[in-house]
Amino acid sequence: MKILVTGGAGFIGSNFIRYILSKYPDYKIINLDKLTYAGNLENLADLEKNKSYRFVKGDICDQKLVDQIVGEGIDVIINFAAESHVDRSLYDPKVFMQTNVLGTQTLMESALKHKIKRFVQISTDEVYGSLKEDESPFTEESFLITNSPYSASKACSDLLVRAYQRTFDLPAIITRCCNNYGPYQFPEKLISLFITNALDDQELPIYGDGLYIRDWIYVEDHCKAVDFVLHKGEVGEIYNISSNVEKTNLEITHLILDCLKKPSSLIKHVKDRPAHDRRYALSAEKIRKKLGWEPEVSFEQGMKLTIDWYIKNKDWWQKVKSKEYLKYYERHYIRREKL
Ligand SMILES: NC(=O)c1ccc[n+]([C@@H]2O[C@H](COP(=O)([O-])OP(=O)(O)OC[C@H]3O[C@@H](n4cnc5c(N)ncnc54)[C@H](O)[C@@H]3O)[C@@H](O)[C@H]2O)c1
Repeated sequence: MKILVTGGAGFIGSNFIRYILSKYPDYKIINLDKLTYAGNLENLADLEKNKSYRFVKGDICDQKLVDQIVGEGIDVIINFAAESHVDRSLYDPKVFMQTNVLGTQTLMESALKHKIKRFVQISTDEVYGSLKEDESPFTEESFLITNSPYSASKACSDLLVRAYQRTFDLPAIITRCCNNYGPYQFPEKLISLFITNALDDQELPIYGDGLYIRDWIYVEDHCKAVDFVLHKGEVGEIYNISSNVEKTNLEITHLILDCLKKPSSLIKHVKDRPAHDRRYALSAEKIRKKLGWEPEVSFEQGMKLTIDWYIKNKDWWQKVKSKEYLKYYERHYIRREKL
C-alpha cells in the first residue's frame, strides 16, 4: 500500500508513520509537510534511510504539488496536516481556515482525480463543543457546536469531507479523537508544556481555576485506532477515538509535579482563555464494537512513558523551545492580556 501522510512531521503524524512502518514494513509512505513551527524533521530522523519512507516539503494547499504526489500511485491519503493549537487560533484564525479547510479540499480534489481508495480525515472531539458535568459523552451523532476558530475550522473540514463523500463518492472516513499526549509533542500543549517547564523549574501557567476537563489518550493508541479505521473502517462513517480517561488540568499538573518531585508553588493560575470549553468526553463505543479496537495504555503507564521520554530527550525539546516557542509565548502573554 502506498500512503500519503500529510503533517507527518508533527506530533501525531510522526508517531503514526513510525508505527505503520514498523507494523507494515512493505508499505510505502510519502510524508508531505510544510514544516511550520510545529513540524520537525528530527521527529523522524530514525527513518531517514528507510527506503519505504520519503519526505516532501510542501503545503497541502498547493494543488499542483499535491496532484503530482497523488499521481505517483497513492492508494490512501491520511490527513493529519493542520494548524492544531487553539490558543494560536485566537490570534491568527485565517491560517487555520487556509490549512484546515482549503488544504483538506485541495487534497480531496486530487484524491478524486486520481481515484484513490481511501481518504482518512483526522479530526478532533473539539468539533462537538463543550459538555456539562452531568452530560453523557459525545457520540458520532452529537451536534457540531464549535467555540474556537480552531474547532470551527476542523468542523468545517469535517462537513466538507462528508459533502465530498456524499456528492462525489470520495471514499472518505472521518476520525475524531480526544486529547493526545506522548513523545514528540510540541511543548505548547498542556502535558508537554508542563513536563518541560517543570523540568526547567519554570512556572506552569494554568488557565482559570484549572478545573477544565479533557479526555486523554496515549498517542500510540490513537495511531493504532487510525490503523484499524484505515483497514477496517467503512466509507462514509465517522469514528470517535477515546480511552475514556477524564482528568482536570489540575489533576494532571499535580501528577506531573509529583512524578518529577517538583513543588506545587510552580503552578501559576493565569487569566482564562475566551470561550474556553469546560469539558470534553467522548464515547468510543462505535470503534470498539464495530472495528474491535481497544486502547492498550493506561493513563498512569502513558504518563510514565511520556515523562521518561521528555527526561531522556531534553535536547529535542530544548532546541524546539529556544527556536520558536519562547518568542511566541512572550507575544502570546502580552496579547492575551488585551483579549
Ligand atoms: N494533538 C491532539 O491532541 C489532537 C487531538 C485530536 C485530533 N488532532 C488532530 O490531529 C492532527 C495532528 O495533530 P498534531 O497534534 O500532531 O499537530 P501538530 O501541530 O503537532 O502537527 C501538525 C503538522 O502539520 C504540518 N502542517 C501545518 N500546516 C500545513 C500545511 N498547510 N501543509 C502541510 N503541512 C502542514 C505542520 O508542519 C506539522 O508538522 C491535526 O489534524 C489535529 O487537528 C490532534
